Amino acid sequence: MAEIATAHAPAAAAAASRVPVIELRNVSKTFGEVRSLSNVNFAVYPGEIVGLLGDNGAGKSTLVKTIMGFHRPDSGGEIFFHGRRIDDWSVARARALGIETVYQERALCEKQPIWRNMFMGREPRTRWGLLDVKRMREECSRLMSEHMGFTSAAVHPDNVVTTMSGGEKQGVAITRALHFDAELVILDEPTMGLSLTETKKTLDFVSNIKKAGKSAVFIDHNIFHVYPVVDRLYVLDRGKVAGVYDKSQISMDDLIDRLYRVARTGTLD
Ligand SMILES: Nc1ncnc2c1ncn2[C@@H]1O[C@H](COP(=O)(O)OP(=O)(O)OP(=O)(O)O)[C@@H](O)[C@H]1O
Ligand SMILES: [Mg+2]
Repeated sequence: MAEIATAHAPAAAAAASRVPVIELRNVSKTFGEVRSLSNVNFAVYPGEIVGLLGDNGAGKSTLVKTIMGFHRPDSGGEIFFHGRRIDDWSVARARALGIETVYQERALCEKQPIWRNMFMGREPRTRWGLLDVKRMREECSRLMSEHMGFTSAAVHPDNVVTTMSGGEKQGVAITRALHFDAELVILDEPTMGLSLTETKKTLDFVSNIKKAGKSAVFIDHNIFHVYPVVDRLYVLDRGKVAGVYDKSQISMDDLIDRLYRVARTGTLD
């Protein structure tokens, strides 16, 4: 409804930066008997990394899949993008608006070289309409050294993805998200199954998202991964938001205590 959208539009330019990139209001999601999300309010502001914590089955993936347009909220739930309510939210819409997702086994084309993967679906063309291979390789090389910090001679734009480590694949997926002006990058357990070094690289990539002025939602079971890179944290429990914290207001120890308490009692009170 237009009047709702208008009510939440920024009143002045100064307020514009405080309008969330994405906001879910009163979002519930029911699968048959299971209520995966229950009246969830959730927002990600520009330039912010938001952590999403909670036990198995808490609803974290359901929440981000709703943001990605895979799931439609039950009736009564609303999705706002930059303060504008969007009723026909879908995967295509979310992607067109610059929301990218990075999973551990993200769909990279394993048999294609890195440069091809980097530009998949958005290839620059020459003025004759042909694929601009030279530009893609050069640009890929630049992105790999500047954004991904890949200095190893072993990682070359012409290498096929199969030869890359899990962390390096993650790097390609994240760099692609940043390069193509993703405004919001969603990372659902991107460190799952990665080695210590690859995990460190992936966490560095998450920090780079912030440096590039973009936003992210970061899900990871390991609080030691989440806490250092986020600005705010949501704790989900059995489909409900059990707590929202500014990192500056809560220490890691305190957060761990609270997570235990939520797991035991389902509440922070
Ligand atoms: N497509 C679906 N159909 C039926 N039930 C679902 C579906 N997706 C999720 N659920 C259920 O919703 C609840 C929340 O699942 P979700 O995957 O969002 O949890 P999660 O917090 O991501 O857990 P994990 O940490 O294990 O990844 C679970 O009980 C799950 O079984
Ligand atoms: Mg999950």
